[in-house]
Formats: sequence, structure tokens, C-alpha cells
Amino acid sequence: MESDRLIQNSKLKIRDSSGVSVKSKSAAETRKLGKKLGRLVNGGDIIGLTGDLGSGKTCFVRGVAEGVEVGKEAWIRSPTFTLINEYDGRLPVYHIDLYRIAGAHELEELNLREYLYADGVSLIEWFEKMPPGEVDEWLNIHFEHGGENERAMTFEPHGPRYDALLKEFTD
Ligand SMILES: Nc1ncnc2c1ncn2[C@@H]1O[C@H](COP(=O)(O)OP(=O)(O)OP(=O)(O)O)[C@@H](O)[C@H]1O
Ligand SMILES: [Mg+2]
Repeated sequence: MESDRLIQNSKLKIRDSSGVSVKSKSAAETRKLGKKLGRLVNGGDIIGLTGDLGSGKTCFVRGVAEGVEVGKEAWIRSPTFTLINEYDGRLPVYHIDLYRIAGAHELEELNLREYLYADGVSLIEWFEKMPPGEVDEWLNIHFEHGGENERAMTFEPHGPRYDALLKEFTD
């Protein structure tokens, strides 16, 4: 499978017992990594995405949506300014972007728990803005800029459910 080959070819390495780093050399490669994860996620999974502006979080989420079999048109039609976009694939995908959230009150108004404890997969950009302790199990993916088209992603599972998911992803 194309994305499997990509993973094998990419510089995937075990960082330590709990984290995995992957280097990507293009937006297409990042999307394919997302797609591979999207094929593996289950309802109720929570993926937190951290890292700078333009580091590839949305690009990765798009790949996840593809892996969950969300139609490309649905993604293209979706407004980029909304804080929460919902898609239907083999399971619901909730794409949440906390970038514009100013404080606890605004966050409260989003009623995030309605998504986090629903039957879809939640992907949350700017997860740094989540109040500590709001979720206790999640897969964190941290994005870093390398050169122009290079990005490094570090997958860090929090909780046994995500240890297992990451293991499937890297196997
Ligand atoms: N290896 C790469 N992986 C991902 N994106 C890349 C890569 N190389 C170049 N890019 C480009 O970097 C940009 C990443 O934008 P993206 O919207 O995914 O970032 P983001 O982390 O979601 O930013 P923001 O915090 O503003 O939401 C895109 O324009 C993409 O084409
Ligand atoms: Mg983004």
C-alpha cells in the first residue's frame, strides 16, 4: 500500500519508549501519514495537534479525514474560519481549531465535551490551549518546521489506548 511504503521510507524512529518521530519532506507526505492514521482511528479517539503556525497540522488532519473516508468535496466545501467542522466518513470526524480561542469562557462556549465524548474522532489544533486535565487520554502530535518543505512530527501517546494506536501506526 502506498502509504505503508511511505512510512517505511520515511525516517521513522523510536524516540524513546513513549514517543515516535517522523520526518516529512512534503505536504503530500504529511497528508499520507495522516491518511495512514485515519485508517486506524476509532470512535471516541482524541488527537491533539500542537506546534507553530504553518507547521502542517491542518495538512495532517486533511489526510486523517481521507483515511476515515471523508469525501474530498466535503473537505473543500468546509469553511476555514469556523472553530469546529464536522465531517462524515466511516465515522464522524470533528476538526476543532482552538487558535482563535481567547480564554476559558470562549472555550466553555464551544461545548467541546459534546465532541470529545461523542462517537467520532476529534482532531484538535492548538491543543496547547486546552485546559490541563480536560482530557486524560489522547494522542499528541507535535509539529515542527525543518527547512522549507520539511516538517518533523512527534507522536506522543497519553494512555494505553493511544499506546496501542501508535503501535498499530508504526508496525
Ligand atoms: N512537509 C510538509 N508538511 C506539511 N505541510 C507542508 C510541508 N511542506 C510544506 N508545507 C506547507 O506548509 C503549510 C502547512 O499549513 P497548515 O495549514 O497545514 O499548517 P497549520 O499547522 O495547520 O497552521 P495553523 O496553525 O495556522 O493552523 C501548507 O501551506 C503546506 O503546503
Ligand atoms: Mg491549521
